[in-house]
Amino acid sequence: MIEIKNLKKIYKSEAGDVTALDDINLSIRKGEVYGIIGLSGAGKSTLIRCMNLLERPTEGSVYVDGQDITRLTQKELRALRGSLGMIFQHFNLLMQRTVEDNVAFPLEISKTPKDEIKKRVSELLELVGLTEKAKSYPAQLSGGQKQRVAIARALANHPKLLLCDEATSALDPMTTKSILGLLKDINRKLGLTIVLITHQMSVIKEICDTVTIIDNARIAESGPVLEVLSNPKSQAAKNLFGHSQEEDSEIQRISLSQNGVLLRIKFIGEATVRPVISNMVMQFRVNANILFGNIDHVQEAVFGELLLELSGNPETVEEALKYLYQQNLTIEELRRS
Ligand SMILES: Nc1ncnc2c1ncn2[C@@H]1O[C@H](COP(=O)(O)OP(=O)(O)O)[C@@H](O)[C@H]1O
Ligand SMILES: [Mg+2]
Repeated sequence: MIEIKNLKKIYKSEAGDVTALDDINLSIRKGEVYGIIGLSGAGKSTLIRCMNLLERPTEGSVYVDGQDITRLTQKELRALRGSLGMIFQHFNLLMQRTVEDNVAFPLEISKTPKDEIKKRVSELLELVGLTEKAKSYPAQLSGGQKQRVAIARALANHPKLLLCDEATSALDPMTTKSILGLLKDINRKLGLTIVLITHQMSVIKEICDTVTIIDNARIAESGPVLEVLSNPKSQAAKNLFGHSQEEDSEIQRISLSQNGVLLRIKFIGEATVRPVISNMVMQFRVNANILFGNIDHVQEAVFGELLLELSGNPETVEEALKYLYQQNLTIEELRRS
């Protein structure tokens, strides 16, 4: 659906050049929810704005459905923009227009006949759950309702792609959840591809299939959300999803038994780890002491980790370890006594 190749963006200003994006390569599949996360100033907004050429790349190409959009004529570009919807952190609604007139706006621009506009607007308001608010003005709505109007407006012309720039960053956690639920619902119902950028981890966990971490203008790491969260590899991903320094120093303070080995076991799916540990204890007669357990969710999937101390006869501990390493788990040996 989207393929970005060797993208570079340099902003020229009087204070000097700012490299906002450097050597960005990524590929977004049709129908997925693709999340881009990073700290403020990392280059996220610039990246998403390069996907509809609100920003022009300094170098590189942006392919949408196989077409390099950096080479389009002005007219072709206008047509392309019509097929891409976008929503923003601060909603950008027209305050002088009612809810239904906000949603109708892009349809008026695309010269849709009046009766069709009427029909489409009522469909869209129903989709986002705002039928009752059709005649209200934005000032009369809550933040979540305003974002729903913005979503309806973005979907008006049946876009093939929805771009979301920090769409939930101005909302409280409950409202964030309901907007994310709506986006996921639209993604499933309409098969719409969604790209969203965020600095909120919860957004990535709740609705994204793929995540890219952008750090200081570059991609630090990219992959299926479950993989990146459960096993971050780059320093930037570890900072976002990994253990804090405090947690690491806590681990150094744990006092181990004689012949003790401290392990960190990561697992995906709760059922994967329990039988392994109980089998190991029965088979090798080692002591297995769970010191800490943590479970997290990515959409419907469960993943987590355990801190496990094995102790007992040194030989059987070694055998038990060997057994553990043969299982389909990610195991890290942290310390030995
Ligand atoms: N129009 C601009 N002119 C100059 N510098 C800009 C402009 N827009 C963004 N930048 C700079 O580019 C970098 C990336 O910005 P941005 O893409 O907005 O990051 P993010 O969305 O991750 O916070 C920042 O250093 C920012 O100051
Ligand atoms: Mg931004």
